[in-house]
Amino acid sequence: MTRQALPVLLEGEEAFGLLERLRALVARHLGLLLDPSQDDRLRETLRRLAGPEAPVAWLTRMERFTSQADKDALAAALTVGETYFFRHAEQLDALRTGVLPRWVKRHPAPRRLRALCAGCASGEEAYTLAMTLMRSVLGPGGVDWDITAFDVNPAALQRAEQAHYNAWSLRATPPAWRDLWFRETPSGWTPLASLRRRVQFHQRQIAMPDPAFWTVGRFDIIFCRNMLMYLDGPSLRQAVQHLATALGPGGALFLGHAETLHSLTDQLVLQQGEGCFFYQRREDVEPGASAWPFPVAAQTRDPPATPAASPGAVSRMEARASPRPDSVFGALADATPTVWPTLDESLDPPSPAAARQQLDRALQLVETGQLNEGLRICARLLTHPDSAPLQADVLYIQALALEERGELPAAEWHHQRAAAKDAGFAMPHLRLGLLARRRGEPVAARRELRRALELLDSESADRLRRFGGGFERDALRKLCTHDPGDFR
Ligand SMILES: C[S@@+](CC[C@H](N)C(=O)[O-])C[C@H]1O[C@@H](n2cnc3c(N)ncnc32)[C@H](O)[C@@H]1O
Repeated sequence: MTRQALPVLLEGEEAFGLLERLRALVARHLGLLLDPSQDDRLRETLRRLAGPEAPVAWLTRMERFTSQADKDALAAALTVGETYFFRHAEQLDALRTGVLPRWVKRHPAPRRLRALCAGCASGEEAYTLAMTLMRSVLGPGGVDWDITAFDVNPAALQRAEQAHYNAWSLRATPPAWRDLWFRETPSGWTPLASLRRRVQFHQRQIAMPDPAFWTVGRFDIIFCRNMLMYLDGPSLRQAVQHLATALGPGGALFLGHAETLHSLTDQLVLQQGEGCFFYQRREDVEPGASAWPFPVAAQTRDPPATPAASPGAVSRMEARASPRPDSVFGALADATPTVWPTLDESLDPPSPAAARQQLDRALQLVETGQLNEGLRICARLLTHPDSAPLQADVLYIQALALEERGELPAAEWHHQRAAAKDAGFAMPHLRLGLLARRRGEPVAARRELRRALELLDSESADRLRRFGGGFERDALRKLCTHDPGDFR
């Protein structure tokens, strides 16, 4: 059936009610929080999945009973699967040079290391983890290891199992590593069989209770990157409880750049190494080191949704904007959700407040992986007269988006322009320092990080709240002063 032939019943009040019901259905089965800016996507999904059936009839049927095939179709339509090999490479360095050597010291032979990749999408992250482990712990240390990877979207898992990747997936993979870890195929590249053998994929919704899977201390390394930020409050609490339970002694949990567990759980403590943050079990933190960067407070402002769920959650967005700690985008999870104006609405008539609101919107989009939408708003903001005072901030958001896309030279260029537009802006120098360190240029890295450190003292609280990734001034200072040599 063509799209034109589908019943058009999705306008006005009725549509609003239907979308709210679909939102609730998606939260119930997939744990996802879809804010009002995603209404077009929801509307399109409802039309498409209902097919020839009236959307209201289809939805009512789904509310009574949702089969696994229906849930799969929702997952395929509504999850964001953005990923690539060697994403957030500084975390891989921290794992390789700090976390793993310490883990090996602590665990007597014979050793078996179990890793989890939660929200693995089409597999790039799980195979990257396999490459990192293969490079780090095989051989002399005598460590056997395996990786369990899951995702809620079966279409992505199918691609992960097939493991055929194109140049876009390898955009941040140095050619030497591509030649080392991949075999060329007629359509691109596939990871070596020796790596693929180590990774088991399966379908799972992270917030669904499953005591047989989420056993105490089951995993030594957990990657759960760029997924928690899509979850609604109750699912997020449940997911964090699962992760906190499953992380083993001496292990580490890595999240995405836009995610923190601040005030979500008191079982895990934020640590840092190689210019990145990760979490460890509270009891693993050596006495004396525990005060840094800041202890995770056990605050429960909202009651947990289920008895097993942990206290609230926060992300960098929420840290700056929301009074509610229990969802990644607290403002959007409120009873009266924030409805973001379209760019045209907000800038016509133009005003500095509207421009600032769009800046926040662009940052939110970039932080939730909606990079193209975020970049589109940035591009339009840059040409608008009212955004002149925000140009450095806009350039910084563009740079973050480009980093996320793995386009590192372009990202650095935008960071440099942001720093040039506003000589007092610390964050571009911090990112430039970390990027230089990643490239193996210690002199440039030290110069940029020293500059960031100087500027951080006088950076406005508002800007830190907006761009500090949910981390406080002291934590960012530590990131600047950290010498990779200390980490070992
Ligand atoms: C943006 S991708 C991140 C992929 C990879 N972790 C990375 O950082 O490159 C988010 C993935 O999380 C998955 N996801 C979203 N909600 C989930 C849930 N409740 N349970 C399991 N996976 C989920 C999506 O299907 C998607 O593949």
